[in-house]
Amino acid sequence: MPSRAEPAVRDTAAVALRGVSLAYGRGARAVQALSGIDASFAPGAFVTLVGPSGCGKSTLLRLVAGFAAPTGGTVSTGGSPVRGPGPDRGVVFQQPRLFPWMSVRGNVEFGPRMAGLGKAARRARADELLELVGLGDAAGRRPYELSGGMQQRAAIARALAPDPSILLMDEPFAALDALTRERLQEELRRIWQTTGKTVLFVTHSVDEAVYLGTRIVVLSKRPGRIVLDVPSELPHGADPRTDPGHQTLRETIAAAVREAAA
Ligand SMILES: Nc1ncnc2c1ncn2[C@@H]1O[C@H](COP(=O)(O)OP(=O)(O)O)[C@@H](O)[C@H]1O
Ligand SMILES: [Mg+2]
Repeated sequence: MPSRAEPAVRDTAAVALRGVSLAYGRGARAVQALSGIDASFAPGAFVTLVGPSGCGKSTLLRLVAGFAAPTGGTVSTGGSPVRGPGPDRGVVFQQPRLFPWMSVRGNVEFGPRMAGLGKAARRARADELLELVGLGDAAGRRPYELSGGMQQRAAIARALAPDPSILLMDEPFAALDALTRERLQEELRRIWQTTGKTVLFVTHSVDEAVYLGTRIVVLSKRPGRIVLDVPSELPHGADPRTDPGHQTLRETIAAAVREAAA
C-alpha cells in the first residue's frame, strides 16, 4: 500500500522516477540499461546526472522526454505519467540538430508555429529568447553561418520556445572547445536562474556536474543504478577550480564515479 504522504510528494515533484528499469530487446539478447531507479526532483532543481559511458544516462533522459517507455516502474512529470513527448519538456542534444534551411529565428519559432501561435507573438517570443541566449544579433543568419557554441545557444533557445517547465540536456556542451564550454556553462546557470526551469543535465564530466548541479546524481555502470545522490549548495560565482567546497564535493563525486566504473 502506498503511504498517505506519497501522493503529495508525487504531485509536487517536477520529475518522479519510481522503480524505473529499461531493457533494450528481449530474451537472451536483452540489454538491461537501467535498473531500480528511484528519485524525485523538485521544481527549479538543477540536477546533473553523471556516470561512465554506456551506463544509461541518455536512456534515462529519453524516458523523461517520452521518447521511450520504461520496461518497469513509472516516470512522471508534474504529477502525471509520461506518455510521450510534450510541451512541458524541452530537449537539447549533444548536436544542435537545427534545420539548416531555416534562419536561427525560424528554428526558434518552429515549435510555437506548430503550436499555432500567431506570427507577431512567435516572433516576439523568438527574439526574446535569442536575446536571452546572447544571439540577438544572429537571428537572421543560417545555422551553418554560426560557430558550434552559437548553434548550441540556438538549440537552447529553441528548446525554451514552448516555455517548458523542464529542460532535458544530454551532454549539450561535450562537442565544444573548453573555453566555449566554460562560457556556456556560465550562461546556462544564468538562464536557469532567470527562468526558474527544472533542469536535468547529463554529463560524463565530474567538473561540469559539480559546477552546474544543485543536486548531483551518480549512476553505476550498466545496468545503471543510482549510487550517489547529493544536494549541493555551493555558492554560485565562486571559482570551482579554487573554491574549497567545490573541491571537496568534486573529490566525493569523482571517487563515486571511479568506483561506479570499476
Ligand atoms: N537502441 C538500443 N538498442 C540496444 N542497446 C542500446 C540502445 N541504446 C542504448 N543501448 C545500450 O544501453 C546502454 C546505455 O546506453 P546509453 O543510455 O546511451 O548510455 P550513456 O548515455 O550513459 O552513455 C549501453 O550499453 C548501450 O549500448
Ligand atoms: Mg549518452
